[in-house]
Amino acid sequence: MTEPQAARKNLRGDYRGAGSDYSVEQDWDNYTAAEHALYRRLFERQSKLVPRYACPEWIEAITRLDAASGIPEFEKISAKMKKATGWQIVAVPGLIPDDAFFTHLANRRFPVTVWLRKPEEFDYIVEPDVFHDFFGHVPLLFDRVYADHLYEYGKGGLKAMRLDAVKMLARLYWYTIEFGLMNTPVGVRAYGAGLLSSGGELAYCVDDPRPERLRFDLERIMRTDYQIDRYQDRYFVIDSFEQLMLETAPDFTPIYARIRSP
Ligand code: PHE
Ligand code: FE
Repeated sequence: MTEPQAARKNLRGDYRGAGSDYSVEQDWDNYTAAEHALYRRLFERQSKLVPRYACPEWIEAITRLDAASGIPEFEKISAKMKKATGWQIVAVPGLIPDDAFFTHLANRRFPVTVWLRKPEEFDYIVEPDVFHDFFGHVPLLFDRVYADHLYEYGKGGLKAMRLDAVKMLARLYWYTIEFGLMNTPVGVRAYGAGLLSSGGELAYCVDDPRPERLRFDLERIMRTDYQIDRYQDRYFVIDSFEQLMLETAPDFTPIYARIRSP
């Protein structure tokens, strides 16, 4: 998912027949040959970029996934992922409400959209589709620390709902899980899913001199608004998933209160 919110109207996707947790059948047999071919083209384009721009954990995981030949069958991937980190994929029609989203994460289920973009959206799409969700998010769920962090995030989301603080927590998701950068021995690399699945922004976020690249700063992130429909003006850089885990471990209740009071 691109963000833990579904407040936007006119969500794309077929929500009829979705369960109360918004899960649906992936219905893998119904993807057309043209859809598999489009997915493969997206996969091939990104595959040329990731050796240079993706973080090592992502690169290590994708080799285990065998996901290049077409839209993957979620059940097969889930079986492998379950062994590695306890996570599973749950098929969803598109963006889902906060409570359903956080509840899935807090149960080690990652919601993946079933539909694929249209050919004319090859370069850019605002809502998450199966390519973004799969290519961007799923490989990192094979990394133990990242996977544990996202589980903690899900629990933190349910708590943020009770504290009316979802907007602040969603910014954390945005600047880490979606658009996060990481320092590595070979330079800055991307781990955010919105970057990994993007044909243009993946090189931009690492190479372009224009955007700010700031050290990870939890409170600053929670105060920083973001744009969903263009390349980011700023990125936050972590040193490792361990750092992300450690710095998000404290109770956010006083931080939320501090940010709220001017
Ligand atoms: N520590 C956060 C809290 O108390 C929960 C959380 C963990 C949020 C990890 C995000 C990531 O609310
Ligand atoms: Fe996403």
